[in-house]
Amino acid sequence: MSHDTPSLFPHPGHASAPVLFALPSAEATARLAEWLAPQLGPGDVLLLEGEIGAGKTHFARSLIQARLSADGRHEDVPSPTFTLVQVYEAGETEIWHSDLYRLTSADEAIELGLLDAFETAICLVEWPDRLEDLAPPKALSLRFLPGSQPDSRVLALSFTDLRWAVLIDALQLERLRDV
Ligand SMILES: Nc1ncnc2c1ncn2[C@@H]1O[C@H](COP(=O)(O)OP(=O)(O)OP(=O)(O)O)[C@@H](O)[C@H]1O
Ligand SMILES: [Mg+2]
Repeated sequence: MSHDTPSLFPHPGHASAPVLFALPSAEATARLAEWLAPQLGPGDVLLLEGEIGAGKTHFARSLIQARLSADGRHEDVPSPTFTLVQVYEAGETEIWHSDLYRLTSADEAIELGLLDAFETAICLVEWPDRLEDLAPPKALSLRFLPGSQPDSRVLALSFTDLRWAVLIDALQLERLRDV
């Protein structure tokens, strides 16, 4: 009987076990978003999951503002609750921030141009369950779960695309160095 060494990475196309991070404060969530901001490029999709008030917009706002301030710009980043989508020009790329809570059907996402944006822009999507099977499999999923304190959260990261494994390894290393 042979004993294969288990692979460090899950097989492509298979969901990994979520990677968990403690977010003890709103500032910790902002710092994580600021770390991620410069690493993203066109075609990167982040699916932001969690209940109302979980911190999805806070994370997206911190990420967008970090990206804009790298270009010397300081702008308000309102929640796209009613507009469904807000688009920001960030240097060479666009950032699409969407909140699909009020989407009436998954097809409306196509009308909004979201599917094209998944290929060409950086996309931050709140309430991605509204996309049903239109959510891109290459996306990184960030699920904001309640923590033990009012201002703490647990972030569960999951993905199938190995692009994210590399990035999350780097993030874990960075955090271990901080301990
Ligand atoms: N650890 C934390 N991480 C993120 N936000 C936190 C944290 N602790 C407290 N907060 C606060 O929780 C609130 C989260 O609100 P936010 O609008 O981001 O929620 P949301 O997930 O986008 O909700 P909705 O589904 O209504 O869009 C903010 O006021 C934020 O400051
Ligand atoms: Mg929100």
